[in-house]
Amino acid sequence: MIRIAVMASGGGTNLQSIMDACESGYIDGKVVAVISNKDGAYALERAKIYGAETILIPSRGKRREEHENEVLAELERIRPDLVLLAGYMRMLTANFIERYRGKIMNIHPALLPCFGGKGMYGENVHRAVLESGAKVSGCTVHFVTPHVDGGPIILQRCIPVLDSDTVETLKARVLEEEHKAYPEAVRLFAEGRLKIDGAVVRIESANNE
Ligand code: GAR
Repeated sequence: MIRIAVMASGGGTNLQSIMDACESGYIDGKVVAVISNKDGAYALERAKIYGAETILIPSRGKRREEHENEVLAELERIRPDLVLLAGYMRMLTANFIERYRGKIMNIHPALLPCFGGKGMYGENVHRAVLESGAKVSGCTVHFVTPHVDGGPIILQRCIPVLDSDTVETLKARVLEEEHKAYPEAVRLFAEGRLKIDGAVVRIESANNE
């Protein structure tokens, strides 16, 4: 069983999908702690209901390194096998990311490598997709590297962009896919089936296949 730490700043629906998948046995793992930089983030309430440790480390008014060192100290104590960014709205330094290289994942609400990078988070992403005229969107689960939104891609799920779509409707349909993709990626990790080969992630077949 793997020990999972989740970092979240918002509502935590992706966190919920991971906790549900652990509860049901789909993932052989347990969310042991949820760390948030935002006081009042509903993700922390979800974690309490599930029974994970909740850790609030406010980032407001702190230097990036100072805040990160506090988060790193907590992670050192928790000793997770995997760290998940789930709507964590704060950039991480290379130092932090290197510490968990190959053991830290993020979910992004578009099909990377398009619509990623600085400023591309939350609704900004869906607005950019609609303005671009792209006919498909979706979500991407990837390993985190110091290159923002540029780490090796683990899984993607696609949906069509409809003529009638607004930021809200597109966001809602992409989120449904996120809730399938993230647990699937974590399950593959827990099964030891993800092999990072340079910029590419290879998914090894299950032993019984
Ligand atoms: C999700 O759509 C996630 O992909 C996005 O924030 C939302 C969090 O929702 N992340 C980013 O934009 C990161 N660049 P949630 O709190 O309900 O899981």
